[in-house]
Amino acid sequence: MHQEIQDAFNDHLNAEFYSSYLYLSMMNYFAAENWDGMASWMQLQADEERMHAMKFVDHINERGGRVILQQIDTPKIEFGSVLEAFEDSYQHECLVTRKINQLVDLAAKHSDHAAIAFLQWFVSEQVEEESTVLSIVEKLRKVGDNPMGLLMIDDQVGQRTGSDSEGDAG
Ligand code: FEO
Repeated sequence: MHQEIQDAFNDHLNAEFYSSYLYLSMMNYFAAENWDGMASWMQLQADEERMHAMKFVDHINERGGRVILQQIDTPKIEFGSVLEAFEDSYQHECLVTRKINQLVDLAAKHSDHAAIAFLQWFVSEQVEEESTVLSIVEKLRKVGDNPMGLLMIDDQVGQRTGSDSEGDAG
């Protein structure tokens, strides 16, 4: 691997581990507020982000590169509302999408076809991730502070299993 790509991949796997840490922090906020469905959703999301980081770890190792683990930043701990947490999540996914696109541009600059092929999975995944979180944000905006509406959304997102993103009703 070109050194510039290896460095960028190492930076990116740190961003994916940070995503996992951020969603674990959100999971704990929801658990503390007794939003069990949202806590469960965020735990699955945190697991998925760790899997994303591990895909970069495996790719670097398979290419004969060297994985350099770096310090993971402290995530936000407190949120003003469930909507704020999911809005933060959406903004974070948009940031990750921009980072993935920059990696694709870098891989193209170095004509690294293996890296381009590897990154295509993430390009598609980001479309799904942004769409899923935005859908939850829009539902939360509609219900506002209505307790029944919030309970229904909590129940719905709590139906998510490891193999889907939002929940069966979503
Ligand atoms: Fe791994 Fe949610 O981006």
